[in-house]
Amino acid sequence: MTAATPPTGPPMPPLAGSAGGGDDRPGRLVVIGQGYVGLPLAMRAVEAGFRVVGLERDEGRAKRLAAGESYVEDVSDETLAAALDSGRYRPTSETRGCAGFDIAVISVPTPLRDGVPDLSYVEAGAGTLARYLRPGATVILESTTYPGTTEELVGPILEAGSGLTAGTDFHLGYSPERIDPGNPTWTFRNTPKVVAGVDPASLAAVQGFYDQLVDRTVPVASTGVAELTKLLENTFRHVNIALVNELAMFAADLGIDVWEAIDAASTKPFGYLRFTPGPGVGGHCLPIDPSYLSWRVRRRLGHSFRFVELANDVNQHMPDYVVTRLVTAFNKRRLAVNGTRILLLGMAYKRNTGDARESPGLIVADRLLGLGAVVSCADPHVPDDQLDARVRRVDCSADELAAADAVVLLTDHDRFDFELVGRHARYVLDTRHRLDGPQVEHL
Ligand SMILES: NC(=O)c1ccc[n+]([C@@H]2O[C@H](COP(=O)([O-])OP(=O)(O)OC[C@H]3O[C@@H](n4cnc5c(N)ncnc54)[C@H](O)[C@@H]3O)[C@@H](O)[C@H]2O)c1
Repeated sequence: MTAATPPTGPPMPPLAGSAGGGDDRPGRLVVIGQGYVGLPLAMRAVEAGFRVVGLERDEGRAKRLAAGESYVEDVSDETLAAALDSGRYRPTSETRGCAGFDIAVISVPTPLRDGVPDLSYVEAGAGTLARYLRPGATVILESTTYPGTTEELVGPILEAGSGLTAGTDFHLGYSPERIDPGNPTWTFRNTPKVVAGVDPASLAAVQGFYDQLVDRTVPVASTGVAELTKLLENTFRHVNIALVNELAMFAADLGIDVWEAIDAASTKPFGYLRFTPGPGVGGHCLPIDPSYLSWRVRRRLGHSFRFVELANDVNQHMPDYVVTRLVTAFNKRRLAVNGTRILLLGMAYKRNTGDARESPGLIVADRLLGLGAVVSCADPHVPDDQLDARVRRVDCSADELAAADAVVLLTDHDRFDFELVGRHARYVLDTRHRLDGPQVEHL
């Protein structure tokens, strides 16, 4: 087996042995899927000197990238333009762009379909790569998935389509992505990256690749450990958010301010990690990833992963709880929700991002519409196509705030003027504890 030694920096150094013959063609990386994960990776690799093909099956997206228009908030148009100008980044929706790759990363969605992991995107990506796989090349899976996927699913697809053997003819590994969209402190580059291979040579190839992109790599013994690491991280977050959400509901009934208790607990310098309540969890990770693990546990071991199931239960209930709190507030004012004007602030699932996938705000809006409310929403980040067309989109202006019978703060984007909200809103249900005042109730 020849080693897929990655390039070492700009401008496009030789890739020794990349094509199985020690030729001097520059390192060629293919990133399958140009979304929240794949696009930042592609940009960083271009910056580090790789020639990168960004394979994106959505033709519209590939065209936007080629025109220098980024749809991922953490990648600016300037960064994209610089990558395109370097001549080392080529977005395309044509699979033949994979030809001659030395390293390929699969970063495609891993959703649930009827509660069951849907790995069809991973299968399609691996199937594409298999057609272009050559001896000495390296394939890395980054999509979040249950332990066993790399060896039991991706490896066999690559082998069947190429006639080559993983670990013998080509390198195969897994490296979970940890990006935190909208986080200015912890970026792709300075967040340590866990790396794994199906054998020692694969691990060396995978680690060698990421060592050129990030400040620190963390090798682990198997792809299964790396896959589990990612699910452990997300399950940890999911469970802890569920814990404070459940506490918030109890505390409200007990007449205790849960936020003050959380602040007090957070002064403990050891053994406590701060999580805060909210209207529920959203995005591509928390509502989905832990269920990959519980599905695998049930399937392989025949029993349930109770923490995940409980956390799902609590977190999925939160949008309904928000609506119940709102109904109760109206009831106190002898009002019915039917016909009232409700303004939702923040439809993204996460602060300062434009991602409304699986966002609890969408569920809250749907429930309120079902009760006959006239619902409008303001969000400075989320594009129109992610929102419910029945919900009128407005600016968070003094007029809109004053016109609403109730304002619900769902996601506390920094771009909201909270002082303005406090001044003009008649009643606010604040699920993020950003406001204070006589007209404000906290979750
Ligand atoms: N978004 C995050 O914050 C985050 C963080 C860590 C891990 N992840 C994981 O990374 C993976 C990707 O997530 P994402 O948020 O980047 O998804 P995304 O939807 O933003 O992007 C995935 C892209 O892949 C494209 N695609 C799908 N199948 C393809 C194929 N066969 N060939 C080419 N392109 C294809 C889609 O059109 C889409 O543009 C998921 O497994 C996710 O769980 C996401």
